[in-house]
Amino acid sequence: MSATASPLHYSEEELLSSGSFREPLFANGVRCHGGFDDEGRYCSPRVLFRNPAINAWQDRLRQGGDTLFEISPDLIPPVHPNVAQAKLLLQNGVREPIVRALTIISIVEGFGAMIRDVKVPDLESLLVEPIHGTALAHLQRGLFEAHARDESGYRDEGGHKQMWEAARDAALENPKIPGDVLMRLMGRRDQRGRRKPLFPEIGEDLERSLGFMANVLVVEVMAAETFQWGIDLLSDPEISAAPEEAGGMVENIRADEKPHVEYLRTALSEVAARTIRTVDGKQISGKVVIDGLLHGILSEVIKNRRSDQRDDLREGLEKAVQVAAHPQRLLEDFDSLEFDWTPPSQTGFEASEAA
Ligand SMILES: [Fe+2]
Ligand SMILES: [Fe+2]
Repeated sequence: MSATASPLHYSEEELLSSGSFREPLFANGVRCHGGFDDEGRYCSPRVLFRNPAINAWQDRLRQGGDTLFEISPDLIPPVHPNVAQAKLLLQNGVREPIVRALTIISIVEGFGAMIRDVKVPDLESLLVEPIHGTALAHLQRGLFEAHARDESGYRDEGGHKQMWEAARDAALENPKIPGDVLMRLMGRRDQRGRRKPLFPEIGEDLERSLGFMANVLVVEVMAAETFQWGIDLLSDPEISAAPEEAGGMVENIRADEKPHVEYLRTALSEVAARTIRTVDGKQISGKVVIDGLLHGILSEVIKNRRSDQRDDLREGLEKAVQVAAHPQRLLEDFDSLEFDWTPPSQTGFEASEAA
């Protein structure tokens, strides 16, 4: 099927190729990536070689006796507002907060394209063990680029950004988009500030690129809840004008996310299975570094994500409910639908941190 010498090595062109679809995917009049096969099943873009490649790298890792780590789904905080709350608002004519939430999702998907700008320093020289025939060796030779195209589209083809917009517009009948969505989102990101290096001994460039990948991986894993939320909400005929089209669109996006999670956790597991040369000529276990980065990011997310979402929503909710017949009662009903969530006490990555 391919001209490659071994299933562990792929050209950039292969990792970006989709093969052919019987029918392209259109969303709200926009030609999107991916398409449908003869049986009418949705097929993700750029996975013809990418999926077998990721499987081969994962098999190799396991066969070498190394671990492919997993981020526990228990760490994923529920989305706020939850589906029942979002539905309540829409049924009472309060659309702004939900339109805003869906628009934020589409913008964040588009931000995913930043992955193509990650400059991974020369891993051949920074890692003690070779990286020939690994996901790591293909990051900047197809994997990052495929990911970027999936998220924000490529040329005249829409990606996840456009697909979420289409789902929103189909379900809520081309709603008015609040003008300040991007500005408020950026304000929130600025407040975060820069994290201090956790491992100065590996050098700033390496920590920055590994940290970026770990961050994106966590965002991708956390997105599972957002997708389920989007599917449940937008495919509900009581509030969606296009339950099948909009719900189906989010399901297609979700299917495309699998290779993102898988290649990132493979590449980071490959680093964890190796030894990193420090800037002062010593060595540090890759596992200590990867576990430390993941533990730091996950601890912050499980602590802050839910309250961030709540603060963001609350900022505009009291004003937004004024369009309802009984704003105060609606707010009370909204709050009564809230449910508790206690973050797990462990991230699962603390062992090496303590070491
Ligand atoms: Fe995406
Ligand atoms: Fe993604």
